[in-house]
Amino acid sequence: MSGLFSGARTAVNPLRQLTIDQLRRRTSLKWREYPDDVLPLWVAEMDVPLAEPVAQAITDAVARGDTGYPAGTAYPQALAEFARRRWDWDGLAVERTALVPDVMHGVVEALRLVTEPGDAVVVNCPVYPPFYEFVAHANRRIVEAPLGADLRIDLGALDDAFRRARVGGRPAAYLLCSPHNPTGVVHRAAELTAVAGLAERHGVRVVADEIHAPVVAAGARFVPYLSVPGAENGLSLMSASKGWNLAGLRGGLLVAGPAAAGDLARVPIGVSVSTSHLGVIAHTAAFRDGGEWLDALVTGLDDNRRLLAALLAEHLPAVRYQPGQATCLAWLDCRALGLGDDPAAVFLERGRVALNSGLTFGTGGGGHVRLNLATAPELITEAVRRMASAVG
Ligand SMILES: Cc1ncc(COP(=O)(O)O)c(C=O)c1O
Repeated sequence: MSGLFSGARTAVNPLRQLTIDQLRRRTSLKWREYPDDVLPLWVAEMDVPLAEPVAQAITDAVARGDTGYPAGTAYPQALAEFARRRWDWDGLAVERTALVPDVMHGVVEALRLVTEPGDAVVVNCPVYPPFYEFVAHANRRIVEAPLGADLRIDLGALDDAFRRARVGGRPAAYLLCSPHNPTGVVHRAAELTAVAGLAERHGVRVVADEIHAPVVAAGARFVPYLSVPGAENGLSLMSASKGWNLAGLRGGLLVAGPAAAGDLARVPIGVSVSTSHLGVIAHTAAFRDGGEWLDALVTGLDDNRRLLAALLAEHLPAVRYQPGQATCLAWLDCRALGLGDDPAAVFLERGRVALNSGLTFGTGGGGHVRLNLATAPELITEAVRRMASAVG
């Protein structure tokens, strides 16, 4: 294991640290779902060693036998300081946060606070597929507000969706994905302010999933939803999970705006206590001490976005790719290839490369695939070669 940690100490690109043989020894979903002749660039795990401060924190906890229930406010404190440093936002109040087992369970808890079974939840399709599954499982119904052709939030479509969601005067929520998965779009302050205004006008409660917030390119600026005017009754989910590849060390925070503190108080204590103590330790270390590692990752992802754009232009010029400025994900419009609704199935079968099928992302996802950029540049090159061979 020490070999896996050593590369991260020097803040070199963490995406260039591991060989494919090391990666194939992993036992997590990304590397185990498909046979060994398939190159897996799908689920949002990253091919990186664990950041050294995180590895140290959990190794120390294991050495202490410190594996009980979570306690204290170290996690929200670390996040509040990170928010101040990175986003220039000092509005994250530790007393208006609750530990949640992970982001999607936090989303469900937040939806339960502001809606009743049968109520509507608006989403901007195409969007992260579990939004559909978890909303349905919580007995709420999805109302879609498609993104615009520029892949940004279409405020007209959102206005219309809010109106439909509120028919009969029933409560409704808007599950905002910020930054957006799968496009990597970073919403602007003006867009989020307009969203807050629309939500206020329609009486829709906003739940912002901001799990990808740490993974934003240096040239862009993440704006926390709760920092914009009019968002006082909003709820947000934050986590170190995506930024530092901690899906196996689960944890998240539900953060309430000042006018949502009363709602937050209704989260049962048992929900917070269900969060992994080791996860909390890992996430706290990431937000507190993982900045240098994150900077190197974000730079590496930026390089990979440029590499992918160049490779597609050369080998698959019919594929449309509008590089986003956040997340480790690339959303590829493959409709001009003539591979039908599910090009991921063709790339898998003929090219032996695993991507996410756009079909699972809701309306507008047909003919698209999602590619995970969080890997070595050589593997991105190989993936595009395989995709091109599947078409040619
Ligand atoms: C937008 C979004 N929300 C939530 C999650 C999952 O978070 P968790 O594993 O903490 O539930 C992901 C994972 O990729 C995601 O992209």
